[in-house]
Amino acid sequence: MRQQIAAANWKMNLTLEQGEKLLDEILGKMGNLAANRQAVFAVPFPYLAMARQKTGVRAQVSVAAQNCSNKKSGAYTGEVSVDMLNSLQVSYVVLGHSERREYFQESNQLLAEKLDICLAGNLKPIFCCGESLLIREANTQNEFVGRQLEESLFHLTAEQLQQVVIAYEPIWAIGTGKTASSEQAQEMHAFIRARLAQQYGAGLANEISILYGGSVKASNAAELFGQPDVDGGLVGGASLIADEFTAIIKALR
Ligand code: 13P
Repeated sequence: MRQQIAAANWKMNLTLEQGEKLLDEILGKMGNLAANRQAVFAVPFPYLAMARQKTGVRAQVSVAAQNCSNKKSGAYTGEVSVDMLNSLQVSYVVLGHSERREYFQESNQLLAEKLDICLAGNLKPIFCCGESLLIREANTQNEFVGRQLEESLFHLTAEQLQQVVIAYEPIWAIGTGKTASSEQAQEMHAFIRARLAQQYGAGLANEISILYGGSVKASNAAELFGQPDVDGGLVGGASLIADEFTAIIKALR
């Protein structure tokens, strides 16, 4: 049975003290999760050790980085390697967020390299994909997202793909308050799963968690997560509010 995941993406927000308080509050309120549910906290690099320490050995709760280097080690000032993240027992890395694609010119090819280095280090990627408003208006979103999958993921072996979580985040819905309708989300998630099935077989495609991201809130989470191919969410703004994110975790199927 595939995992249902509520992943918080704090992005570049909060001081250490604010982050500690937020995590304490959510961990205190969320209760224990069933075996098919997970809460993941993608926190800024300087807070990873704090988040690991607070989440400790709590079942079904993991910590994620928001990025990592495509290089193993060496003279790359300012970069953070997979080995460094492993030494903190971080479980996941968000890769290919649209903000990194847009502001840091991350290409599908670079992301393929990052996926390889993460998987070689047993770090699970949360691979983001999704189209801009222009592409949505031209109704070419399936071709666009299909290409993101092909160019970054489809060189992986089935065994490797099994470790990947996919997050569909339409750029026009990120931070805009404009959520994709549950039908639009379901339609794209079904398309992504169908592409995975074509490439890797239906059995494996069925095991991959596909999260939706873009203005997920406590008030719309249950409807989005109720769609058959939506396996939870990658949440920005609402993950910074303890009651909101706790409710989103509780809305998981
Ligand atoms: P918002 O939830 O703020 O729209 O952000 C979504 C996102 O980018 C999560 O990675």
